[in-house]
Amino acid sequence: MSDKKWTIVNPGGGRRVIVTKELPGEHWKQILRRADCSIEICTDPAVLSKEEIITAIGDRCDGAIGQLTENWDAEVFVALRAAGGTAYSNGAVGYNNVDVAAATTNRIAVGNTPGVLTETTAEMAVALTFAAGRRVTEADRFMRGGRYQGWLPTMFMGQRFVGKTVGVIGAGRIGSAYARMMVEGHKMDLVYYDLYPNLALERYVAEYSAFLVERGEAPLTCRRLGSVADVLRVADVVSIHTVLDDSTYHLIDAEALAAMKPDAILVNSSRGPVIDEAALVEHCRANPEFRAGLDVFEDEPAMKPGLADLDNVVIVPHIASATVWTREGMSSLAAANVAAILQGYPVWDGDDIAPFLAGDVPQAAPSIVNAEDLEASNL
Ligand code: GLV
Repeated sequence: MSDKKWTIVNPGGGRRVIVTKELPGEHWKQILRRADCSIEICTDPAVLSKEEIITAIGDRCDGAIGQLTENWDAEVFVALRAAGGTAYSNGAVGYNNVDVAAATTNRIAVGNTPGVLTETTAEMAVALTFAAGRRVTEADRFMRGGRYQGWLPTMFMGQRFVGKTVGVIGAGRIGSAYARMMVEGHKMDLVYYDLYPNLALERYVAEYSAFLVERGEAPLTCRRLGSVADVLRVADVVSIHTVLDDSTYHLIDAEALAAMKPDAILVNSSRGPVIDEAALVEHCRANPEFRAGLDVFEDEPAMKPGLADLDNVVIVPHIASATVWTREGMSSLAAANVAAILQGYPVWDGDDIAPFLAGDVPQAAPSIVNAEDLEASNL
């Protein structure tokens, strides 16, 4: 039996939705209330086990909102289906914790929350880049430790970014927002690796470069390189923005790290297992001039032994999307996904999710990742 505490909002609602963590804001609750849902929220900060989720689903459950820390696998979707459920939304844009194929088999729609994390997450990647490159957290610890004896010309020298090369692995929404922030803000050349060319990004950098040249400043370049290794070799700063799947697990391993410049900066705000974290610990130990900024970890919430002892690593607890606007927006999108599916509405036809963030929301589900597969399996 679970000892976790739950609270219920709108207990008279005709549909039952479980929500595995408290979410910020009120708008998401309004969305579910208007869809005639009673909302059962787990108020315990501890991660729910699979068994606890299945117990919470119980005999009757129409929909669920879960979190990236939970394992939404086939067993859970079988239980949700058996309880009459048809809708699940991750309260996240990433969904590597969800067995989408199993959800589809069980005729359950799976939602996620794209569109509200883009700049927020990119901003954190920028923050980590600068914190690592300019040794901010190391210097902060030095100050707090009472070790500052007076200004010295040689103290805490770090990296200058202007005019260097930024590398992006995965130039989707977040990767290209980060790229633009670094290119525009710090006049850096851009190299990226992605399975597909990002022509909009390439055009943007070309136009920005032309604008700079017109003003008498140096031009900038943007190049899509043929492999991740090529990006690692030439970039002064590398930021990772891929999804986590079999093809990206340990994409950055000991060999990849060895290919990077000895004083490069590596930033990860995607998913921890994209980096072989034990190899990164070894690499940072052996190369004190190399720096890393990490928002995500391989075995969250744990860190690999030795990581926390390294001064050349900046670590924050998976908070890249943690702004009030973004987290409330994610909650609204997750609620709107579930509410729409339960009411039989279609999937939103467009990228602009702004209409879902306040007031009455459109009669559509903002983002259902298995929509096409569900429709195909209907035929
Ligand atoms: C956060 O990591 C997310 O995927 O939303």
